[in-house]
Amino acid sequence: MKQVVILISGRGSNMQAIVEAQIPGARIAAVIANRPDAAGLAWAAERGIATVGLDHRAYPSREAFDAALAESIDAFSPDLVVLAGFMRILGADFTARYAGRMFNIHPSLLPAFPGLHTHRRAIESGCKLAGCTVHFVTAELDHGPIVAQAAVPVLDEDDEHSLAARVLKEEHRLYPAAVRAFVEGRLAVDGLRVRQIG
Ligand code: GAR
Repeated sequence: MKQVVILISGRGSNMQAIVEAQIPGARIAAVIANRPDAAGLAWAAERGIATVGLDHRAYPSREAFDAALAESIDAFSPDLVVLAGFMRILGADFTARYAGRMFNIHPSLLPAFPGLHTHRRAIESGCKLAGCTVHFVTAELDHGPIVAQAAVPVLDEDDEHSLAARVLKEEHRLYPAAVRAFVEGRLAVDGLRVRQIG
């Protein structure tokens, strides 16, 4: 059984999608949030999943928070760490520690629109397609080998909220599928390219 630790900052709808997918061979060992009041923590706790709230504001530096976070994660011996709407920038030591075993989901078709306000930027740029990306986490923000992507149309009448909702629906399908591929050992990484095997 592969142990999966999921990191969230807020509502945790991607975390919920992964939990509800009941991926064979995967156990959600814990859900950890950098905000103790993150709504997703209560949802996970109600389902009997171990939860940890680690308030980043209680730490004097990014390094101190990263160290405490790593300690908390490692207590669950994860095979895979899943960032699901985890809105903290992580230091290079932290990303190196989980190299090859940490995923993030980003609401754009990377490498377009790393960072914040992705939907607004896609609309303002006149994109006809938007989407989401699951990628391995590296030290570079919203960069790293791309595991899977899904695209949706940008409609003439879209604003950032309607586009975000259309993309989020795809995130909820894409992320569990990507976690499942990892758990089944079907991902081969070659530089920035990831092939699905088997
Ligand atoms: C999701 O849309 C996710 O892609 C995005 O935050 C949202 C979290 O929603 N992540 C990022 O922007 C990371 N750069 P959720 O808490 O309901 O899963």
